[in-house]
Amino acid sequence: MTVGIDLIHFATSDYVLGLDTFAAEKNIDVNKFYNGIGQEKMSIAPPDEDIITLAAKATAPLLDQIDKNSITAILFATESGIDQSKSAGAFLHGLLELPNRCRVVEFKQACYAGTAALQMAAALASQNPNENILVVASDIARYDQDSSGEATQGCGAVAMLVKQNPRILAIEPGSGYYTEDVYDFWRPNHRTTALVDGKYSTKVYLNSLKQTWDYFTEATPRRFDDIEHFCYHIPFSRMTEKAHKTLTKKVGVQLDEATFKSQICPGQVYNRVVGNSYCASLYIGFCSFLDNAEQALDGKRFGFFSYGSGSVAEFFTGVIQPGYQMHIMKDSHQAQIQNRLALSYEQYVSFYYQHPLEADDIAFERTNKGSFRLDKIENNVRFYQQ
Ligand code: CAA
Repeated sequence: MTVGIDLIHFATSDYVLGLDTFAAEKNIDVNKFYNGIGQEKMSIAPPDEDIITLAAKATAPLLDQIDKNSITAILFATESGIDQSKSAGAFLHGLLELPNRCRVVEFKQACYAGTAALQMAAALASQNPNENILVVASDIARYDQDSSGEATQGCGAVAMLVKQNPRILAIEPGSGYYTEDVYDFWRPNHRTTALVDGKYSTKVYLNSLKQTWDYFTEATPRRFDDIEHFCYHIPFSRMTEKAHKTLTKKVGVQLDEATFKSQICPGQVYNRVVGNSYCASLYIGFCSFLDNAEQALDGKRFGFFSYGSGSVAEFFTGVIQPGYQMHIMKDSHQAQIQNRLALSYEQYVSFYYQHPLEADDIAFERTNKGSFRLDKIENNVRFYQQ
């Protein structure tokens, strides 16, 4: 019996800001973004899009393929929580009319939480063939205007169905994990934007990779040569190249350029034009790899490195299942990315810095063009529309 990802689908917003537009406004050489950090565009969420509407957009196509009454749990991972008490999964549960015989909980540890949710789902599913667990990771990355992180914003959500005998990825037992209490990126409760010590965060990320790798090789018999492809957490796509260089140097492997690229690059394609989506980012990278690999991946082992600032990291592996290509949702992923509307810099500023996102009462202008939108907040109650 295997356990893992049976179906996976991601969603992003309907609007995009080109980093060429951003660079021209800030008087920065655009090559700093295109080459230096490896980003071209950022998905931007209008005020009536939040982590719930993105999550619903990611999840609905999965539910079209299964009996939604078979869902036994929603494990919802996010950095951009909308309520200190009620879990984001409970809002999603209501919006998608999921069965009452279902457990729902929210996971938080910056960008790592999606992996915590996935591992817990796999553990539950391994004990019970009736478990059909929705793991949802949804985030809107927001930094202060003119901060170092501003060019690395983005947004997206991933929905994964986790069960026994999955059709896409079997997660292998054993992983390496590492926690360190640091302030590299954090968001106090009163803030809607994250604070970040950018350069320090990249150092903690890379050190965590080395630490998780050491533990992974102690905890499992698997070694670098046993892994064909690597998906790293993607705050910006150049970070994955730094990560892979760090890992290959650590294990003492010298790869030619073509092999190096084939091990990581298909995973960068979507994130390069979507931007950071925190908890969802690693798994949008996985979708990108599945959709954009030049050769079929049946039977290939993937290494996954998940990093969440603050910080918690984990390295684990999984094996692509035969026939996976019949179940991936490439067309939907590509259509969403292509159909986004380009924003001017002024429209982006208006969406992110001139509209209140939280208040006791707000009615939101209709800008979200997706199937789900946040209509209003009335007496602190959020009203969604389908
Ligand atoms: N042409 C080509 N390359 C250029 C260039 C140009 N004109 N100008 C600069 N560059 C290169 C620089 O040489 C540099 O390359 P290296 O990293 O190889 O040295 C790169 O572009 C970036 O330039 P800077 O270091 O000057 O950029 P910065 O200081 O303005 O910002 C950053 C970089 C600190 C990572 C910033 O983007 C940031 O704060 N991001 C948010 C934090 C983040 O993403 N951290 C990642 C690890 S933490 C994590 O993963 C959790 C998470 O999701 C947030």
